[in-house]
Amino acid sequence: TAKYCTTNDGKEKNISNVTVIGGGLMGAGIVQVAAQNDFDVVIVDKEDEYLQKCMVMVRKSIDRITKKKFPDEPKLASKFVNDTLNRIKTEKEPSVGVANADLVIEAITENLDAKWKLFEVIDKAAPKHCIFTSNTSSLPIFEISKVTSRPDKFGGLHFFNPVPLMKLVEVVKAENTSQETFDTLFQFSKDLGKIPVACKDTPGFIVNRLLVPYMMEAIRFVERGHANARDIDTAMKLGAGYPMGPFELADYVGLDTIKFIVDGWHKNNPDNPLFNPSEMLNRCVEMGKFGKKNGEGFYKYTN
Ligand code: 3HC
Repeated sequence: TAKYCTTNDGKEKNISNVTVIGGGLMGAGIVQVAAQNDFDVVIVDKEDEYLQKCMVMVRKSIDRITKKKFPDEPKLASKFVNDTLNRIKTEKEPSVGVANADLVIEAITENLDAKWKLFEVIDKAAPKHCIFTSNTSSLPIFEISKVTSRPDKFGGLHFFNPVPLMKLVEVVKAENTSQETFDTLFQFSKDLGKIPVACKDTPGFIVNRLLVPYMMEAIRFVERGHANARDIDTAMKLGAGYPMGPFELADYVGLDTIKFIVDGWHKNNPDNPLFNPSEMLNRCVEMGKFGKKNGEGFYKYTN
């Protein structure tokens, strides 16, 4: 059985209660995957409206998974859907949402102040044995953990979009993350049916550190006028076997997200040409073209 977190009195305790904070696209995916794999989940977000939107995303995605999993077994399918949904509770107040948590996964906006405020509050409210994680894609885990009394019980758990389909989880061992916490998170990722990989607390971890410069390089390619976006996408799909070309992927990830990541890296490493900003990307974001999520990025989307 899994090696799990240790309570104050030194007893091993299984992770059974997971609290996800932030019900956006990533949060919804994490909630779904945890609930599907028998964890009791609380999803915390500020407004009823966000919580409702999150549950709509979860329901739609479970329906898609269920159709594939139980194509000819309607009874099993509806049991799977109901069991999964019954494991999910919604909550607006972070301190209430973490009261029984064994593990917290933070997936709120990529803003260090906002994350600090949240972790300060929940550090006081969560049980002492509870492990804290962040799904951040661009902020250092150690920085985030500094405001808590438990940097040893703090690590990175980085999921990929779409969370229900993407098999990978990057488990990040920051400066103060204890080996026990890291092992627990590694095992937890396996219990979600994912394949974990280990990574230090380095900018972009593994995937984004390679993927973001690749997408930026593709944008610069178009800026130089050496090929158009559609042909580059076709080239990378048919010539390199990627499921999406760099522009489809950029739209899928969100152009605002990519700009946020690359601007942060550029600020900290102004001499690294891989992190140079792009005028074309900046213009898209200025014009509100964020990608698939709001109907237009490099491509237009009808639904
Ligand atoms: N939930 C449940 N099921 C889903 C789903 C979701 N969110 N999205 C797609 N599916 C299902 C579909 O229903 C479909 O099922 P079917 O085969 O029974 O019809 C199946 O998955 C395949 O979907 P599609 O036919 O729509 O599309 P594809 O075959 O092209 O696969 C994809 C979609 C898995 C997204 C594939 O294109 C892919 O792997 N793309 C690359 C994604 C990627 O690189 N993600 C990482 C981004 S970086 C990141 O997330 C990090 C962050 O920090 C920025």
